[in-house]
Amino acid sequence: MTYGNSSARGGYRQSLDYSAWLQPAPLLSGNLVEVAPWARIVVADHAEGVLGTAVRELSRGIREAYAIDPKVEASLRDDASAVIVGVIGRTAAIDGWISPHHADAIDDEGYIIQPILSENRSLLVVAGKSEVGCLYGVFHVLRLVRTAQPLTEPIVETPINPLRMVNHWDNADGSIERGYAGKSLFYRNGDIQYSPNRITDYARLLASVGINAISINNVNVHEVETKFITEDYLPSIARLAELFRAYGIRIFLSVNFAAPIEVGKLLTADPLDRDVQAWWDDTAVRIYRHIPDFGGFLVKADSEFRPGPFTYGRNHADGANMLARSLRPFGGLLIWRCFVYNCLQDWRDRQTDRARAAYDHFVPLDGTFDDNVLLQIKNGPMDFQVREPVSPLFGGLQETNQMLEVQITQEYTGQQKHLCYLVPQWKEVLDFDTFARGEGSTVARIASGELFGRTTGGMVGVVNVGDDGNWTGHSLAQANLYGFGRLAWNPQLSSETITDEWVRLTYGLNDRVVQTISQLLLSSWRTYENYTAPLGVGWMVNPGHHYGPNPDGYEYSKWGTYHYADCKGIGVDRTEEWGTGYVGQYHSPNRERYESLADCPDELLLFFHHVPYRHQLKSGKSVIQHIYDTHFEGVEQVRDMMSKWRELSGLIDADRHQAVMERFEIQFQDAKEWRDVINTYFYRKSGIPDEHGRTIY
Ligand code: GCU
Repeated sequence: MTYGNSSARGGYRQSLDYSAWLQPAPLLSGNLVEVAPWARIVVADHAEGVLGTAVRELSRGIREAYAIDPKVEASLRDDASAVIVGVIGRTAAIDGWISPHHADAIDDEGYIIQPILSENRSLLVVAGKSEVGCLYGVFHVLRLVRTAQPLTEPIVETPINPLRMVNHWDNADGSIERGYAGKSLFYRNGDIQYSPNRITDYARLLASVGINAISINNVNVHEVETKFITEDYLPSIARLAELFRAYGIRIFLSVNFAAPIEVGKLLTADPLDRDVQAWWDDTAVRIYRHIPDFGGFLVKADSEFRPGPFTYGRNHADGANMLARSLRPFGGLLIWRCFVYNCLQDWRDRQTDRARAAYDHFVPLDGTFDDNVLLQIKNGPMDFQVREPVSPLFGGLQETNQMLEVQITQEYTGQQKHLCYLVPQWKEVLDFDTFARGEGSTVARIASGELFGRTTGGMVGVVNVGDDGNWTGHSLAQANLYGFGRLAWNPQLSSETITDEWVRLTYGLNDRVVQTISQLLLSSWRTYENYTAPLGVGWMVNPGHHYGPNPDGYEYSKWGTYHYADCKGIGVDRTEEWGTGYVGQYHSPNRERYESLADCPDELLLFFHHVPYRHQLKSGKSVIQHIYDTHFEGVEQVRDMMSKWRELSGLIDADRHQAVMERFEIQFQDAKEWRDVINTYFYRKSGIPDEHGRTIY
């Protein structure tokens, strides 16, 4: 079931916004870049599958950059300059050019870009150990071409994370849970419906930053989506999988743990029941018949009212392993989410601490999960707040495959109306030292599987994409998707490097443009934090949709999301000595650092401690004055962002300039609302006036 060719339906496929970071280079610089000497001929052994995609992308990139149509040939002529693309050990034309030392340094998805310059000719060899490696190599070459960078030294790249995945929270009715960029790319009216062109364009964007896996339906699996694993839907899903396969991306499905009952008409979904196992085995056989390279299942179980093994007195390992065993014969993976907590809490109960829940559930099961199971762990212990500590499951689990889950879609961070560039946040998470194996035990090393010698691992992002013409609602939110992919490929890249790349690719090479947009992006997370919930306390949003300020919105709810503000102070005591004991889930010295009021970092103070409003921060300010100051400052920072953006008028295309300007105007109004609601709330609670006498209501 597909709907018409979207290029015929609307002009947006031609827009600069739609091209995102794959802009045709001539548009970037205003004139053609000097033609690279190797750009006239592409040599490849065959043009099918992913290698075919690589050759097509290269030809297209060359055409767009240099306005020439490269010839594609099967073998290398003696005297010709050319770019040669191929798989090491398979493509005769490249063997001999690649040093064994370089070849040893890459894994299956890595690549080598080798320029060979002699007097008579120039060659550029793009080689991988697999076809997808070649595709990634081609995208790297094009990134350099599009940003007019020289290509004189060999480049050897291999991804740090085996799995680099996006999760869609798309529903069959076309809606997207926590989606802020239009409707689903995959579904309409309870059915699978998509534009093949649009999907291919999406796959290009994803593959160009190294994404190799995608789950296509919401982790909250509703009635229709529960049936995606049946003959009614698999043929359509298989066609979708084919479009992604051309770009080296494997499809995963979120499944309903109760599917054996809801679809299979069994009386139970007990993971230790033989009929249940057999039903899932048959299901896997059916799926792989349609999609031979199917990635596997993603499961949200016993979480926020989703069914799971608890119903049968079984644990998460029983549930996960049962599904994993069905997938194993086909090389499939079972991804089990750790977002498990009591969502029917009583706010009067001061003992239960939601932050503890994931660790308390999963650490006792460490070492009991099968090898093709991965646990998917949110970056923080709560839920994608603007500021949270890192989940102590990282470092807590040592004998289990893991993935770091971040939220690219901006549920709690301005919903793609506000600019909030999250790469710096993710970097802090990845660089966080858990001390699980002494100093240097970073989250990045744990997620990749390297630190504990795991069989696999990776990074996954809940994606921010919908069918809006610019993919992400806010044009600048494209940077979050780009940055996610680049970090998943290599968590060691700096925020600055990624940002600079993205701006050059997306908005061109003008220095002023690059500097201004980079600055706007890099400061935006702090700015957002300044005018929203302070000092790590989180949750001061409107319930349900999570947009806009509401300091007590979640204070008396069942969700375990409290800040305990009263007239004397605010914050959650999570210390071992007096509080919920959550800090005990960290290794030393993090444990001691968070336990101590004196050592706890300011930005997380209210996450770990309940303090009086006059408590002095390390910055020298009192908590209450910090709240007032950051909220006034945050609004001024947004005003400043707006004027910096305004100054780019004429330096970038009017359409994107205007659209982003409109979002800044919304952000400015909303930031003022946040400032006034938060400041007023704390002024009324504490009765302590602002030292600078500014207006608080
Ligand atoms: C958040 C979000 C939900 C989502 C859940 C999850 O709570 O608000 O929409 O379902 O996370 O990650 O499963």
